[in-house]
Amino acid sequence: MKQIIVTGSRGQIGTELVTELCSRYGPEKVIATDLGTHTDFKCEFVELDVTDRTSVFNIFSRVSPGTVFHLAGVLSARGEEQPETAFNVNLNGTKNVLDAAISSGTERFIFPSTIAVFGPHTPKKNVAVDTITRPVTMYGITKLFCEQLAEYYSRKGMIDARGIRLPGIISHRTPPGGGTTDYAIDMIRSAVARRKYTCFLKKDTRLPMMYMPDAVNALVKISEVGSSSLLHRTDFNVSAFDFTPGELETELLRHFPGFEVTYRQDARQAIADSWPASVDSSCAEHEWGFAPQFDMQRMVSDMILNLRPLVKEGRSAQT
Ligand code: SER
Repeated sequence: MKQIIVTGSRGQIGTELVTELCSRYGPEKVIATDLGTHTDFKCEFVELDVTDRTSVFNIFSRVSPGTVFHLAGVLSARGEEQPETAFNVNLNGTKNVLDAAISSGTERFIFPSTIAVFGPHTPKKNVAVDTITRPVTMYGITKLFCEQLAEYYSRKGMIDARGIRLPGIISHRTPPGGGTTDYAIDMIRSAVARRKYTCFLKKDTRLPMMYMPDAVNALVKISEVGSSSLLHRTDFNVSAFDFTPGELETELLRHFPGFEVTYRQDARQAIADSWPASVDSSCAEHEWGFAPQFDMQRMVSDMILNLRPLVKEGRSAQT
């Protein structure tokens, strides 16, 4: 088996995906890359800025990987604050990684797209894969372009690209940075730390979500499945459940009676309002066996279990 390169490995999903890949295939098979230097990965780590085309080409020609998981990206809220950076990282960075992967003979390009490819003209509920995609955020625009670019290269037979449109991903290990769905993690962390929480979205804003173990499983699963079953390529909707901040508050109150949430929306409300409330994951279920294990209640219980020790140690959790 050839080696696997992971970009954005120090991010919310990257840290957990690298751990899973190391235990599944062995640390010698995984090369984690990202900005910065410090990691506690068992595998080799290489400092890499995906916008630096020469460095991207250097590592791909040295490693000649079989698969790349391209996770480096700027999320929605940060992308609206820094649209140039989002454009550069999400678009130019992805083009660099795709080109380097193709030129080094990499077989598979796996990447997370997002529910942000949808926009205000998309139907709100149980949104199909093949529907109106007219995003209004820089994050959504760049990710939609990357879906289509990767699919184009796939159709031409240059690389086997696969992508999943992730919803809000909830996790306890590495805080996300600059997303709109991050409120859910912040609210759970606040409840466990017995702090009040001020939510930046309205109480009734429904968004699709998924727990990290299911996101990691989905990425691994789509990277391993044979091509013959795939009718779609880079645009699979995947989601495990959907809820509103009010519903999450109610669930947390079952565990922490007295937990207080106030609602004060900010600019992120407009981003959330442009996204679907729920998506239809049936293409992913039928074509490659997407089958999330965690519902909202199990997710909340597991988050609490994992966050409690951190709170006791005083590492409670500013995100
Ligand atoms: N979690 C992402 C964000 O909020 C959505 O894909 O930006």
